[in-house]
Amino acid sequence: MNTSPPTKVTRIAAPLTGQHGHEIQAFGSVVPMPIALAEDTRRTSADNLNQLLADTITLRDLYKKHHWQVSGPTFYPLHLLFDKHFGEQNELVDLIAERIMLLGGVSIAMSADVAEMTLIPRPPRGREEVPVQISRLLHAHEIVLEEARAMARKAAEEGDDGTNDLLVSNVIRTNEMQVWFVAEHVVDGPLVHADRQADKP
Ligand SMILES: [Fe+2]
Repeated sequence: MNTSPPTKVTRIAAPLTGQHGHEIQAFGSVVPMPIALAEDTRRTSADNLNQLLADTITLRDLYKKHHWQVSGPTFYPLHLLFDKHFGEQNELVDLIAERIMLLGGVSIAMSADVAEMTLIPRPPRGREEVPVQISRLLHAHEIVLEEARAMARKAAEEGDDGTNDLLVSNVIRTNEMQVWFVAEHVVDGPLVHADRQADKP
């Protein structure tokens, strides 16, 4: 058995684990970024987008919770729909987070921090009935849509066209479309017989 000490080459190739250091940028700050937007504008957009990011991460995770925990006669279509919407929200999460970084800000990222920031009510850990799951999702979408529209107007006023475009073209349109697909599941229409009240004289 070879017990000779490691060579210099071996030491260079060894992973340097357990390292520590200070943050290089504080959450809430913005660093200079040469994109022809004033610091105040970039800070306002980054702050707004971080609130939207916390709420979008929460809505995304609410979809995965409901994808796993859904039950009843509509299990299969809702199981698939909830996961499709999870994937679309996940794409929005990345778009929002990377926009914050390119504005010079710092994106909120970890679930404990997101939980402190989000405006979406926390659901129970256990399972809920389908109409309750859908009501939660619709409420969460409405929180996101309301804030996204206000943020889009603010970004347009400040000349931050990229943020305005992200909010309108991606966030608002995706959320509106998802609301339609989810809301139609709580229309109380007959499954077999048409409304018999129409037959009465
Ligand atoms: Fe799955």
